[in-house]
Amino acid sequence: MCGIVGYIGMKDAFPILIKGLKRLEYRGYDSAGVALLNSEGELNVYKSKGKVKNLEEYCIGKDVSGTIGIAHTRWATHGEPNDLNAHPHYSQSENIALIHNGIIENYLAIKKMLVREGYTFKSDTDTEVLVQAIEYIKKRYDLTLSEAVQRTLKFVIGAYAIGVIEKNKPDCLVAARKGSPLIVGIGEGEFFLGSDATPIIEYTSNVIYLNDEEVVLLQRNKKPVVKTLKDEDVHHDIIKIKLQLEDIEKGGYPHFMLKEIFEQSKSLAMCMNGRLNTELMEIKLSGITTNIERFRSAKRIIITACGTSWHAALIGKYLFEEFCKIPVDVEVASEFRYRSPVIHSDDILIPISQSGETADTLAAMELAKSHGAFIYGICNVVGSSIARGTDSGTYTHAGPEIGVASTKAFTTQVTVLIMMALQIGRELKTLPEARYKKIVRELANINTKIEECFELSKEIRKISSVFTYARNFMYLGRGYNFPVALEGALKLKEISYIHAEGYPAAEMKHGPIALIDEEMPVVVVSPKLKTYEKIVSNVQEIKARKGKIIAIVTKGDVDIKKMADFCIEIPDTEECLTPLLTVIPLQFLSYYIATVKGRNVDQPRNLAKSVTVE
Ligand code: M6R
Repeated sequence: MCGIVGYIGMKDAFPILIKGLKRLEYRGYDSAGVALLNSEGELNVYKSKGKVKNLEEYCIGKDVSGTIGIAHTRWATHGEPNDLNAHPHYSQSENIALIHNGIIENYLAIKKMLVREGYTFKSDTDTEVLVQAIEYIKKRYDLTLSEAVQRTLKFVIGAYAIGVIEKNKPDCLVAARKGSPLIVGIGEGEFFLGSDATPIIEYTSNVIYLNDEEVVLLQRNKKPVVKTLKDEDVHHDIIKIKLQLEDIEKGGYPHFMLKEIFEQSKSLAMCMNGRLNTELMEIKLSGITTNIERFRSAKRIIITACGTSWHAALIGKYLFEEFCKIPVDVEVASEFRYRSPVIHSDDILIPISQSGETADTLAAMELAKSHGAFIYGICNVVGSSIARGTDSGTYTHAGPEIGVASTKAFTTQVTVLIMMALQIGRELKTLPEARYKKIVRELANINTKIEECFELSKEIRKISSVFTYARNFMYLGRGYNFPVALEGALKLKEISYIHAEGYPAAEMKHGPIALIDEEMPVVVVSPKLKTYEKIVSNVQEIKARKGKIIAIVTKGDVDIKKMADFCIEIPDTEECLTPLLTVIPLQFLSYYIATVKGRNVDQPRNLAKSVTVE
């Protein structure tokens, strides 16, 4: 989604803004722009379709001086991606420039009113309406910029994170947020704005997180002035963020996605650190310990999420039902929020989100909250909107995930779900102690097995080169590995643009089997599980129809190996832990197919890292 950077201080703003935009490239965008106030107080705006480097080239020879500025990467919602629709947007008089993430839902009504007042518009965006409205209100009521922003936003319906600067006001950077994330970085007499921490951490680790409907005025060498839209003063404690610069760099890998695949043993270690006690062989998540009575009395758990996080949620259902004997519904957040779901106050809703900013998941959470459900979040980004809106929860601690295709977020989400189910199952005595111990022991050792899976990368690279011809792929799995099949298909679709479908293996006979011929690669996720014999039959059915079989099996497999065209062998583990291993070859497979096809793996077309609009 769109990215925001802002700076006010003593340094040249342009290099800081451009570097910041580059750090935000991973979020997905199709145009970029920058606005700067030079020492004469002139307000210069430059924008360009395409990548940040286009913008940089476009700015060569132009006046990019100034120690205050705002910059933006735009992921088109209203209006096609072009120079005109790119941000920053000027107001009518070109005295104010604004950048915006989010969607102004009532922009047409505001635009109509402004047109009546003689305003004209250059772009198709809701953002231009907002900056024009701020100028209109400012003039009409003779307000300062921050007062005008405050007053205008009272009429705005929708989501926004904005940065605004004004001609001849070199000591005034105004920002505000509602529903879209915005962080203020606090330096020595200088301030930074970021839609996440990545453009800021190079300069400072001290930040404040704005809450919804808050406006901040940033001036050099003064404290930030934060107010609500109702003009109440707000005090925010400064928070130290733990992110390191190396966490958001490629570290010698050609793509963030590959780096993040290989980081999974480290991220799982961080995820389990201080939670899985290897001496006592027991798991304690503080959020579960504090709220165990909630789980004891829960009639139902609802897990809601989108995309990859939804696949992790599906694994959560298998886990909670098996170990805790609590009924679980898994809901795609965008459907859940617009149904009329029956939610009770003794339900527990678990939103799962890497970014913690996904608009649909956030809205689903708010809906469940309004019905009195207890909210237990699973998020990666500390301080994100979902994390802050929950009653309790567990962070995944995967570290920053920059690649658009989610990898380590998935395995850490599954790990948190495993730990939750084990702890709750033990406390509720629905999980026999011996079984609990056995799984905990295996979980404590899972990283060695994950590292063994990394060694498969070369072999999978070779297999991948065979299948670049394919226009379709089918992924099959059963039980705990059915969601893994869905995840494998999603990974392939999003980064290689090959059509892929995931199915529960036994469903194949009910339709998809018609697609199988000698052209169709079928990835069968079939480690040794209780349904192994059944999946062997499914593989026979594919073989009989000449499908090309790529099987993910447990080391030492005999039956499937005989039939498969390619067999990828993973270490043996407990059935409930197999998704942590089986998903890794699928991540490699999609990565290598996409790179052989020359795709932009880290920034696939049309996709955004965190989807903060509906
Ligand atoms: O940040 P979230 O986990 O809420 O994001 C949910 C999905 O947008 C995300 O998982 C998406 O499907 C990824 N691109 C998958 O790789």
